[in-house]
Parts: sequence; structure tokens; C-alpha cells
Amino acid sequence: MIRLEKVNKTYEGGVHALKDINLTFEQGKINVLIGPSGCGKTTTMKLLNRLTEHTSGTITLNGQNIQELSPVQLRRKMGYVIQNIGLFPHMTIFENVAAVPKLLKWDKKRIYNRVIELLEMVNLDPEMYKDRYPSELSGGQQQRIGVIRALAAEPETILMDEPFSALDPISREQLQDELVRLQEDIQKTIVFVTHDMDEALKIADQIILMKDGHVVQNGTPEELISNPADEFVEDFIGSKRINNGFDLPAVSKLMSNDFTSITTEATVADAIDVMMKHQLEALPVVNNEGKFVGMLHLFTALQKVDDPIENIVQSTTTLFPKMDGKKAYEAFSNSNLSSLPVLSKSKELIGMLDKDLLVRDIYDILDQKSGDQ
Ligand SMILES: Nc1ncnc2c1ncn2[C@@H]1O[C@H](COP(=O)(O)OP(=O)(O)O)[C@@H](O)[C@H]1O
Ligand SMILES: [Mg+2]
Repeated sequence: MIRLEKVNKTYEGGVHALKDINLTFEQGKINVLIGPSGCGKTTTMKLLNRLTEHTSGTITLNGQNIQELSPVQLRRKMGYVIQNIGLFPHMTIFENVAAVPKLLKWDKKRIYNRVIELLEMVNLDPEMYKDRYPSELSGGQQQRIGVIRALAAEPETILMDEPFSALDPISREQLQDELVRLQEDIQKTIVFVTHDMDEALKIADQIILMKDGHVVQNGTPEELISNPADEFVEDFIGSKRINNGFDLPAVSKLMSNDFTSITTEATVADAIDVMMKHQLEALPVVNNEGKFVGMLHLFTALQKVDDPIENIVQSTTTLFPKMDGKKAYEAFSNSNLSSLPVLSKSKELIGMLDKDLLVRDIYDILDQKSGDQ
């Protein structure tokens, strides 16, 4: 956790870039700084890892005043990702990601395992990519490497200054999704700068809207949309979103925790019984640790009654608790199932999201909106 109390920054030459900033960046949260150019976003970021020093006030990292740490110690605790990541062009992907752990003199085996693990985390096949050079990757892939390079030495905090703004819209959306998903696993303190409100609304746990060195408003995306502090916030969010904005809660709020599943130890005949009893077209299958294995479809089961369940389960689109409800709705268009599994970060089956119920939620929200007016 990082806390800023009454922080001021005046640059040499007299620009008062930050004025009495009070903020908390909690661990496990994506904190997004947003505001017009020159409002002080990058300055805030640079104070955190002491690329520049604050003029007054206090900044603490997990309770410790950052002035008590040397800039080198501090930067080891903080990964930094910037817009044009500047991977080292003459080094392979492996060497790029391994750079900081090497500097910290990790042993070879540990470095190797860490690089492989990180490549897998962002869905880049290690065998395919580790020996390539940055120029042999697309922009989106290079930026993924930038992100995992910042994560390599297991920093507590990740600072990201407009990390995706140079990417095309599709790669950009993909990386935003991946960052949210990755954060489910890594639970770091992320401070993320952007000037794009769509990006902020999509990824933020906390949005901090700044103007002329002040914090104008901070809160969850829902809080800013439903209760903008003043006209500046309204303008920045866009009246379209405030008046007509239609938002669904996250999957965790929409899913059902009361669902039926079966373990791989059961027989297909058992599974058919369960499906008949509950009138299901498919049944989620978990192993004996509760981890999701796949879906058993009724028709497949009826044709393969004597097979072990594991052999006939089918993979499916899966959802995660923090996923945006609208994204989840879109997921149904790529699936022939009317109910999709929701998995925890360790792949346990924790809920099912039913398309019919989701549609009903949409109607409830529409009803509430027309009631408000
Ligand atoms: N090194 C510097 N010296 C003097 N003024 C600076 C310096 N860096 C930034 N500023 C000024 O501080 C203010 C905030 O800048 P910055 O934090 O970069 O804004 P943002 O990232 O929100 O665009 C601006 O007025 C900018 O001109
Ligand atoms: Mg900036």
C-alpha cells in the first residue's frame, strides 16, 4: 500500500505541479490516474520511485517513509512500464525479461523458471518466443514483454505510465483485459496513468481524476459515473456515459453460487442422472481439488455412457469474478452453452453465470433507470 499525505511538488523554475495531494493506493488494486495533459499524472508517478523528489508532505510504502529507502532499494520494489517500453533490441526476449533478476544475482535455474512462468502468464509460448528478438514481435507482444519484464523481480508495486497508448485499438483492449486478469493472480499495487476514460473505466478499481495539480475526485468507476463531483468530472466522463451509460456489475455480483457440478470420480451414468434431475444441457466437472476440468454435455454423455468422464469433457469459455458483466454477456455469443463457469484465480469452480438470468438483470437495470427519471 502506498499513501500520499499533503504532498506538494514545485519544480525548479516555480511550476507548482502537485498541490496538497492525499491518496491511498491499496494492494491488489488497479489505481488509475487520469486527467488532461499537464495535470500532474507523470509527476505523481515519478515521486513514488523517487525519479523526482517531492517538496513537502509524506509518502509511505507499506508504512515506511520512502525517504528512508535509497532510490535503488525503492526501485527494486517497483516495476516501471512506460509507453514505448524500449526493450533492449539486441537482446532476446529471454534476456530482456531476465535483465533485472540477473542484476539481482538470482541463480540461473530460478531466473529460467521465472521467465518461463511469466511468458506463460501472458499466453506467449516460451518455446516459440524466448529466443526471438523484440523486432520479431508485434507491438502488442512487445508491450506484453514490457509488462512481464517489470514483474520479473517480483516487485510489490507496478507503475505504468500510459503503457498501452501507442498500441492499435484491438491490441490495446486485449492488453487491458489481460492486465485485469493478471492482477487477479498477482495482486500487486498497480498505479496506472492514462488519458483515456474508456481505459480507466474498464480496468480501474480506483480512478483518480486530476486537474491543475489537484485531485478533483477519486473513487470507483461506478462512483464517478453515478455521482460526479462537479461539471469538470461530468465533462471528463462524458455526458453520454452519465445519462445513457449502461453498465452491468462484475461477474461476481451476477453469478450464482448455488450450482450443480460433478467430480471426475463420478460415472457418466451418475452425471446423466444429475442432469436429468436439474434439467441441464451440460454439467461442470471438477477434479477432487475443486478445480474446473471442463463441461460434460448431455448429448455426449448419452452417447458415451461407459467412458470415464475425464475423456469426454469439453473445454469451454470460462469467466472470472472481476470480469465486466458486458464482457461476460459477449462471451455467450462465442459459446453454445446457456450457462458458463466462473473460475477463481486458482481455477476453482466458484459459480455459474446463466444467460437468462443475465438478461433479466439487464431488464432490472433498465427498469431502475426509467424509474430514476
Ligand atoms: N522537469 C520538469 N521541470 C519543470 N516543470 C515540469 C517538469 N516536469 C513536468 N513539469 C510541469 O509540471 C506539470 C505537470 O506535468 P506532468 O506531471 O508531466 O503532467 P501529465 O503527466 O499529467 O501530463 C506541467 O505543468 C509540466 O509542464
Ligand atoms: Mg505524463
